[in-house]
Amino acid sequence: MEPRPARARGPGLPLPLRALAAALLLAQAGRAAGDPGPALWPRPLSVSSSPRSLRLSPENFYIRHGLNSTAGPSCSLLQEAFRRYYDYIFGFHKWHHGHFRVQAGSQLEQLVVSIVLESQCDSFPNVSADESYTLLVQEPVAVLKANRVWGALRGLETFSQLIYRDSFGTFTINESTVTDSPRFPHRGILIDTSRHYLSVKTILRTLDAMAFNKLNVLHWHIVDDESFPYQSVSFPHLSSEGSYSLSHVYTPNDVRMVLEYARLRGIRVIPEFDTPGHTQSWGKGQKDLLTPCSLFRKPEQTFGPINPILNTTYTFLKTFFKEISNVFPDEFIHLGGDEVEFLCWASNPQIQSFMKTKGYGGDYAKLESFYIKKLLDIIAALNKRSIVWQEVFDNRAKLHPGTIVEVWKSEDYFEELRKVTAAGFPAILSAPWYLDLISYGQDWRTYYSVEPLDFQGSEKQKQLVMGGEACLWGEYVDSTNLTPRLWPRASAVAERLWSPKGKNITEAYARLARHRCRMVRRGIAAQPLFSGHCSHEDT
Ligand SMILES: *[C@@H]1O[C@H](CO)[C@@H](O)[C@H](O)[C@H]1NC(C)=O
Ligand SMILES: *[C@@H]1O[C@H](CO)[C@@H](O)[C@H](O)[C@H]1NC(C)=O
Ligand SMILES: *[C@@H]1O[C@H](CO)[C@@H](O)[C@H](O)[C@H]1NC(C)=O
Ligand SMILES: *[C@@H]1O[C@H](CO)[C@@H](O)[C@H](O)[C@H]1NC(C)=O
Ligand SMILES: *[C@@H]1O[C@H](CO)[C@@H](O)[C@H](O)[C@H]1NC(C)=O
Repeated sequence: MEPRPARARGPGLPLPLRALAAALLLAQAGRAAGDPGPALWPRPLSVSSSPRSLRLSPENFYIRHGLNSTAGPSCSLLQEAFRRYYDYIFGFHKWHHGHFRVQAGSQLEQLVVSIVLESQCDSFPNVSADESYTLLVQEPVAVLKANRVWGALRGLETFSQLIYRDSFGTFTINESTVTDSPRFPHRGILIDTSRHYLSVKTILRTLDAMAFNKLNVLHWHIVDDESFPYQSVSFPHLSSEGSYSLSHVYTPNDVRMVLEYARLRGIRVIPEFDTPGHTQSWGKGQKDLLTPCSLFRKPEQTFGPINPILNTTYTFLKTFFKEISNVFPDEFIHLGGDEVEFLCWASNPQIQSFMKTKGYGGDYAKLESFYIKKLLDIIAALNKRSIVWQEVFDNRAKLHPGTIVEVWKSEDYFEELRKVTAAGFPAILSAPWYLDLISYGQDWRTYYSVEPLDFQGSEKQKQLVMGGEACLWGEYVDSTNLTPRLWPRASAVAERLWSPKGKNITEAYARLARHRCRMVRRGIAAQPLFSGHCSHEDT
């Protein structure tokens, strides 16, 4: 843009305009005095910062492995993270304003960020991943210490959030000390790629935003009634017949790409293959898997849940889940088990006589539990652990110890948490965080105000709560609106699960509004919280 001609300034300016210009200058000076400082999200366990501020220059800024690190430069996961964070901190500026220019008279300190890792570079994060870190920012070296690479990743995110631009636009960081670790180990986002296909790019963008919020589990509800986009090597017909189209599939290569992108950000990917209900799409490519219903006298044959009385069902499941257990490195597989429709089972004469032989009476929950038990055995034989939706527990299926129960029903979820943990099972809470339910206003406040441990129970029971998930079901969501619908609403859940108990909504609002602007600056189309604008420090 051309600079404005000098005519606009100087003695030629009419008096009222001069007064206005002076007022504007004052306003700017006022803002300079009240630099907002950093907006950390989620709030760390402990932060102390001093008024001593250091000014950074991109040319004088290095992130390197500390001398005491055992990981060393061979830790490609850290090298990748250095590159990313350098870019988040300075990249936008260079991109939009050409080369960084030093303000005349402002002194720039050199800052070296040194990362000290107390261990080798791990390959995949797991449920007990150590994400703790300490960060000591002091001229001329900022030291980030972590036992594991996962903590180093979280610490780099915090470090990048500590940097702000002062009123001259200079990158600034105050000397500070941060000690941090998450309150809950399982902090997830559920995405649903069956109701609508989500492009791989959209999933990767979601993983980026998750890392900005220190979320660490992608719960990938990959298939459901509507479509089967997962391309199986053992059963290619499942997706060739069951997906929306041949371009609406996740090839083995796509899945590997998601897994690697997630790994580099310390995010676990837990696939969900929901059975025996929610499986209409499976039936298209796998004959005799679903129960034929005799109830509805329609001209065409209709099908219900997976047929639990055929041996072929379990042969199929064994082969299928063997593949899944190899493709997805995480220790856990989500088996679903929610909302099983009993009407079709009840209509089928073979199933009726099977029920008689087993002595189940008319209790189809028992038949469901019979199925689930066999499936859980298959998963255990593959050396994996299972997560199930709460109905599986409610229907009294025999669960292996350590099976995680996900509490999703909104009515009295505290009572459900109490029951699940009283029975000795670990639990994940998602009931209050169904982000697909939208309304006018600031629903993030409701998500933020949930206190997951506010149920009646012993200390031991509370320790069984692993964390929670923000769920974005896909009936009304595809790649066009997933990002603004998730962010920053899911950020509220992220802080609830990472930060210490307690809340100050006023204070959180101000921080979250700026965190949202930071996400926008980093390429995440997060929607606004309310009226307002992003200031130049934030975008
Ligand atoms: C950071 O340093 C500036 C400049 O000295 C000071 O005004 C501000 O209060 C400090 N911020 C914090 C959070 O300590
Ligand atoms: C590195 O190790 C030395 C010797 O054990 C110790 O004195 C020093 O404080 C360590 N430095 C950091 C940054 O941890
Ligand atoms: C998780 O990973 C760490 C580090 O790689 C390992 O020491 C630990 O045994 C793993 N835990 C589980 C439950 O797999
Ligand atoms: C199914 O397997 C069970 C147990 O292995 C066996 O007893 C039964 O005969 C089999 N049924 C059929 C129809 O093959
Ligand atoms: C909440 O935060 C606001 C803004 O930072 C502050 O003025 C207020 O005193 C805080 N309220 C409580 C109860 O701490």
